[in-house]
Amino acid sequence: MSLRLGDQAPNFKAKTTEGEIDFHEYLGNSWGVLFSHPADYTPVCTTELGRTAQLKDEFAKRNVKVMAVSVDPLDKHSGWVNDINETQNTTVNFPIIADEDRTVATLYDMIHPNASATATVRSLFVIGPDKLVKLIITYPASTGRNFLEVLRVIDSLQLTSNYSVATPADWKQGEDVIVVPAVSTEDAEKKFPKGLRIVKPYLRYTPQPDLN
Ligand code: BEZ
Repeated sequence: MSLRLGDQAPNFKAKTTEGEIDFHEYLGNSWGVLFSHPADYTPVCTTELGRTAQLKDEFAKRNVKVMAVSVDPLDKHSGWVNDINETQNTTVNFPIIADEDRTVATLYDMIHPNASATATVRSLFVIGPDKLVKLIITYPASTGRNFLEVLRVIDSLQLTSNYSVATPADWKQGEDVIVVPAVSTEDAEKKFPKGLRIVKPYLRYTPQPDLN
C-alpha cells in the first residue's frame, strides 16, 4: 500500500554513492528529504540533482539531510555525478542510492506502472525528526521539481511543528502566518505576543513567530 501523510517512513539499508547507509541512522534527529528520479544520464534529472547540491546550505540551515534514489547501479551514479558537477557548476554532496533491486522504490511506491514499468517517477518525501512522513509530492518524468518550493514547504512544516501556526496560500518567508483553529483566541493572544489580526473568528493572522 502506498504511504500517506503521518505514516512512519520505512527504514532500509542501501548501497549509495557515500557507502552503505541505514536510512534512519543517517537521518538521526534531522529532517529528511528522500527523492527519486527516473534514470541517470538524463537531462531533467541532471538539473534536479545539480540544483539540490547548489542548495546545500539552505537544506543545512533547516537541519535537513537529503538523499536521492534511482534504480541505476552505483558505477553509473559515480560517472554521472561527474557530469552533474561539471554541467551544473556544483559538487553533489549527498548520497544517491543505487536501488537496483527496487527495495526503496517498492517501500516508497516510487514506480507507477502506467508511467513506466521499471523506472521511478519523481517522488519526493519530507520526513520529520520523528520519522513520520510530512509531505509527499509526485511529478512526472518530464517536469523538473522546484526545489525552492520544497524549501518553502519545509519552512512551513517547521513553523507548524514549532509554533502551532499554518501558512496561507503563496506564503513566503517573512509574511504573516495563520493561527491554527485548535488554538483559542484567548490562548493565541498569550502565545503570540506580536499580536493577532482577526479577519474572521476562524481566520486569524500573526507575524511569523520565529523572526525578530
Ligand atoms: C530526464 O530526466 O530528462 C527525463 C527522464 C525520463 C523521461 C524524460 C526526461
